[in-house]
Amino acid sequence: MDPILNPYSPGAGTPPPFLAGRDDLLAAFSTLIARAQIGNPVQPLVLSGLRGVGKTVLLLRWRSLAAEAGWATAHIEARTDADLRQQLGDAITDILRQVSRHYRNQERVERLRRVGASFLRATGATVTRGGLAFNVQPEPGVADSGTLETDLGELLVELGQAAREERTGAIILLDELQDAGAGMLSGLVGACHRINQQGLPALIVGAGLPTVGRVLSEAKSYAERLFDLRTVGPLEGDAQDQAITEPAGALGVTFSPDALSAFRDLAGGYPFFIQTHAKFAWDVAVDGPITAGDVDVASPRANEQLRRSFFSPRYDRATPAERRYMHAMASLSEHQVATSDVARVLSRRQSDVSVQRDGLINKGLVYAPERGLVAFTVPHMAAFLRSLPTHEF
Ligand SMILES: Nc1ncnc2c1ncn2[C@@H]1O[C@H](COP(=O)(O)OP(=O)(O)O)[C@@H](O)[C@H]1O
Ligand SMILES: [Mg+2]
Repeated sequence: MDPILNPYSPGAGTPPPFLAGRDDLLAAFSTLIARAQIGNPVQPLVLSGLRGVGKTVLLLRWRSLAAEAGWATAHIEARTDADLRQQLGDAITDILRQVSRHYRNQERVERLRRVGASFLRATGATVTRGGLAFNVQPEPGVADSGTLETDLGELLVELGQAAREERTGAIILLDELQDAGAGMLSGLVGACHRINQQGLPALIVGAGLPTVGRVLSEAKSYAERLFDLRTVGPLEGDAQDQAITEPAGALGVTFSPDALSAFRDLAGGYPFFIQTHAKFAWDVAVDGPITAGDVDVASPRANEQLRRSFFSPRYDRATPAERRYMHAMASLSEHQVATSDVARVLSRRQSDVSVQRDGLINKGLVYAPERGLVAFTVPHMAAFLRSLPTHEF
């Protein structure tokens, strides 16, 4: 069928034409901001899940919901090679621009801009990025200590007070939280705690790999009570079918039941795989309804695309020794495996291969669900590894 009209959206953070199976998480977010806006106690949401499961598109949808509710919003993605303080500085700049346009109390806005400038100066941001954008003098003694927890806390309190006065709110959505670094996260969590104690509508919500809950608790022990940690998993029940049928239905195209069941086997509910397989089946089909026969023809092409775009680039990032480590994991199980078993397969002592494990964790290819265990961050990675030519350990 016409590839120009193909509605599917495989990609990283590419909004799907139909966001299936996440109504509970959308409702939870709407409740969160509505409660925060009237000063009720809240637990900011944090999403945790594997790559390709749909965390980023949920964050983006949350952002739209907040914007529709009239909130000021900013979205950032933590990176191991970036300074979170500077990224927060950018987010604050973004939010203050929105606030400057909409708030009635311009005196408050002026003060917020001065506090924002203090924060930016303390992050070491260059004047062109921060100070000049506001064209104001920093407010001495507020948000300028150089300690993230204090500075972000003071800034969010000022922002939250101003937002409350205007009967609105402000929110920063922080993706890839696990990459922010322990020191930064500790500051971030401390600042969230402070704003939460005062019941102000200035929130930080986030998303990260399955380790995100533990990473946050290690940063501050009270983090697990502070945040509402939600696991984002594969789509369940009818949701996978809906992710496929709704976008096509809007264009008058249907699927046969056996096509949908073939998709279920191929994608296992993982949104990135769903979008890829549905996209290829659409292109292959000559006419609707799209059948299991179309899916059969399309799936080798879809799998080849997945190898090239999803699995191989990750595999290629690993060193030869790290690859051997992953092959050993894949030979043991689809799911989490004990690091002691991996070492055994490699005929090495555990301490001898911990450097490979750490390397893979740093590259975001594996994570440690618990002490002594490792698992892939990417669904179906073990099957991909096993499909490669046999590997010598
Ligand atoms: N609920 C959903 N329904 C349909 N497609 C989805 C859904 N969530 C995500 N997708 C699709 O899955 C892919 C991966 O989403 P993304 O948010 O980048 O995942 P993550 O951030 O968890 O790695 C994108 O192509 C997106 O369009
Ligand atoms: Mg993402």
